Parts: sequence; structure tokens; C-alpha cells
Amino acid sequence: MVLTLVLAESSIELVPNEIAGHPSVTGSARRKQTDPNELILDQSYHHSAILRLEKAGVGRGRPDIAHFSLLLALGSPLNIDGDLQCYVHTRDDHVITVNPHARLPRNTDRFTSLLEQLYKQRVVPSSGTPLLSLKKQSLQKLMDELSADQIATLTTQGAPKPMETVMEELGSARKPVVLVGGFPSGHFCRNTIDLSSNRYRIDKRRLEAWTVVGRTVYDYEKSIGLKRF
Ligand SMILES: C[S@@+](CC[C@H](N)C(=O)[O-])C[C@H]1O[C@@H](n2cnc3c(N)ncnc32)[C@H](O)[C@@H]1O
Repeated sequence: MVLTLVLAESSIELVPNEIAGHPSVTGSARRKQTDPNELILDQSYHHSAILRLEKAGVGRGRPDIAHFSLLLALGSPLNIDGDLQCYVHTRDDHVITVNPHARLPRNTDRFTSLLEQLYKQRVVPSSGTPLLSLKKQSLQKLMDELSADQIATLTTQGAPKPMETVMEELGSARKPVVLVGGFPSGHFCRNTIDLSSNRYRIDKRRLEAWTVVGRTVYDYEKSIGLKRF
């Protein structure tokens, strides 16, 4: 059964209007020879501008989280065998569909530039087979479209259960979906919690999203008995 992995509420968005004139943003725009409004917000470059956002912009501008998580997921045996589909849902309610055959840039700045191209064109590359495509869509709409019958949300606010057991249970679902937060701090919003079938805490520690993605994929591989040799 194909596992659907969704990086939910990911910290990806275009630079908000209110900070488009900030020197850290205009400097990036000049370097990239683009309009400030076409830049992806990025903590690494726009830190001082992000501090001016509501609640000091906590958790915003982290495209690297989706980047690392996707590199891990796409390189997995599960994905190579065609048993994984990844989506990135963003905090501004866009959904990026990731072609399982996509070879993403290894460098995060280049990944971020690819996202900028994606927000502009809605699909990359602009001709041929789409590797990434983007549409305005809520997480709820994506779940409806997928007809997901089991949505396991991984969160430190969930019931404690080892990942192995979570994945064994999910292995029997017709359309299993796992949600991992694509953000660095804070918690899922109420809407996301409400659409989940179950919520699990898989470790007493707060882990990075990409670590959780790695474990999701590996334990799912074991639960479906993926052949190593
Ligand atoms: C860096 S964490 C976000 C922080 C958030 N405060 C939390 O504790 O869930 C990124 C994502 O990794 C997953 N995650 C991290 N630690 C986890 C744990 N111990 N159990 C389940 N999921 C976890 C969640 O999906 C979380 O949204």
C-alpha cells in the first residue's frame, strides 16, 4: 500500500508585503535580480525582517525543513519502490505535489530558488513532466482529494506510542496518510488536529521533522515487509 506523507503547515511562504521593503529582503531581491514579493521567506537571510512580523515571526521562513525532509523521503527504498507519495502543505494553504522521481537540488539555497520558480509558474520545470506542482489548497481539501481513511498525525501532544507500532497499525489501512509538521516550533492548528484520525507521540524527545520523516519511512518499510535483497 502506498504511504502518503504530508509535511503539514510547512514554514514556506512568499515574503509578506509588510516586510517587502526591509533591507534584508531588498538585498536578497537585488542579488537574485527579482522582485521582493517573489522571494520565499528565509530565516537564513531575512532574520531581522522576520522579527518584525506578528509574534516576532516565530517559526516562519524555514524552507530548509521541507528540503531535508524531502531529500530523506525521496531517497528511501520505499520511494524507489514506488510506495511513497509526498506532499508539502504550507502555512499559507498551498499544496506542493512532489513527483516521486524528482531529483531535488542538494543545496538548500537552490531548493529555495526552485520554490520561488514554483510559486511563479505553479509547476517546475515549465515544460515536460512536472517534478513539483503547486496549487492553492487547504489540508482538508487535500485529505478529501486523497480519500484518506487513516490519518496519523505525529505530534508531541499525541498519545505515546512507538513508531513501529504506529506504522504496523497503519500498514493495514487502505489509504494511509502520515502528517508531520514542517515547522520548527509550536503545534499544529486546531483544523489539522480535527482532521486527524489519531495523534501519536513517538518519542519522549521533541525531534526534528526530518528525523521523524526518516523514522516514518523506515518503520513503514518494515511494516509492509519491504524486501531488502
Ligand atoms: C520540530 S517539530 C515541531 C515542534 C512541535 N512543538 C512538536 O513538538 O511537535 C516538527 C514535527 O516533528 C514531529 N515530531 C517531533 N517530535 C515528535 C515526537 N516526539 N513525537 C511525534 N512527532 C514528533 C511533529 O510532526 C512536529 O510537528
